[in-house]
Amino acid sequence: MRRMIAEDHKGSATGDLDGLQLSTSLASVFNPLSTITEAYRQLRARLLLSNGGGTRLVLVTSASMGEGKSVTAANLAIVFAQAGHRTLLLDADLRRPKVATMFGMNGASGLSDILAGRTEYSTDRIRTGIDNLYVLPSGEPEAYSAEMLSSKKFRQFVALLREEFEVIIMDSPPTRAVADPIMLSSISDGVLFVTRAGITKETELKESLDSLQSVGANVVGLVLNGFDLSMAYGYRYKYKDYREYSQYSRKGYYTYTD
Ligand SMILES: Nc1ncnc2c1ncn2[C@@H]1O[C@H](COP(=O)(O)OP(=O)(O)OP(=O)(O)O)[C@@H](O)[C@H]1O
Ligand SMILES: [Mg+2]
Repeated sequence: MRRMIAEDHKGSATGDLDGLQLSTSLASVFNPLSTITEAYRQLRARLLLSNGGGTRLVLVTSASMGEGKSVTAANLAIVFAQAGHRTLLLDADLRRPKVATMFGMNGASGLSDILAGRTEYSTDRIRTGIDNLYVLPSGEPEAYSAEMLSSKKFRQFVALLREEFEVIIMDSPPTRAVADPIMLSSISDGVLFVTRAGITKETELKESLDSLQSVGANVVGLVLNGFDLSMAYGYRYKYKDYREYSQYSRKGYYTYTD
């Protein structure tokens, strides 16, 4: 992805799409024919096939900060929308929100504002310039996010969203930092766990997956993000040990994203 952003966007963090300033990490929008986008399509196919098609609310999380949760969640939501599914990208990272910036929606109200009663939910307000894609940012940063996400109000709100959308992709904070993703896993149909090539430590990965599985979370897949797909066998060999992690996912699969 780094190379794609350097070559196609001269290294710029944002790019123009019909007047909207979107993050250039949204390869599924800017580079639909790339191997990167193809990897997200593969992930989509696997999620559609998991649980007999019952994986409609997917939690995207990882062990630590900056491993690519938000990039993965956003690109995945886009490819679901491109395939005609009415899709919501929900930013449930109420502490270090990222989704709004990626979609040029800085300052927009969002989940925390709805749960705190500061604003009303409206489907029209979360429409994007991309067909079938709706984005609900996290809203004003919330210190008591764990309390908010375990509230009855949140559960009721998610039930309403389930009625309205075919697919919901939920971004979240890292499992090692806060309890939020553990809580969120209980309302999700499946958890997609993101690791970052060369960065995620195996001990941290194990610890995080254990904590998810101890509460009965359904880990449906692991993503090795930042894996340069264009590199030859030697590179693949270098990361061969990562494949071992697939045993932690019930379906036992692993997807590489560049
Ligand atoms: N495959 C990749 N190649 C290059 N850069 C990437 C890749 N994935 C993510 N990044 C960049 O790394 C940074 C962290 O990614 P991202 O925000 O998706 O991680 P995160 O896990 O959501 O982080 P946080 O824990 O802060 O929420 C961003 O600047 C993003 O653009
Ligand atoms: Mg994030």
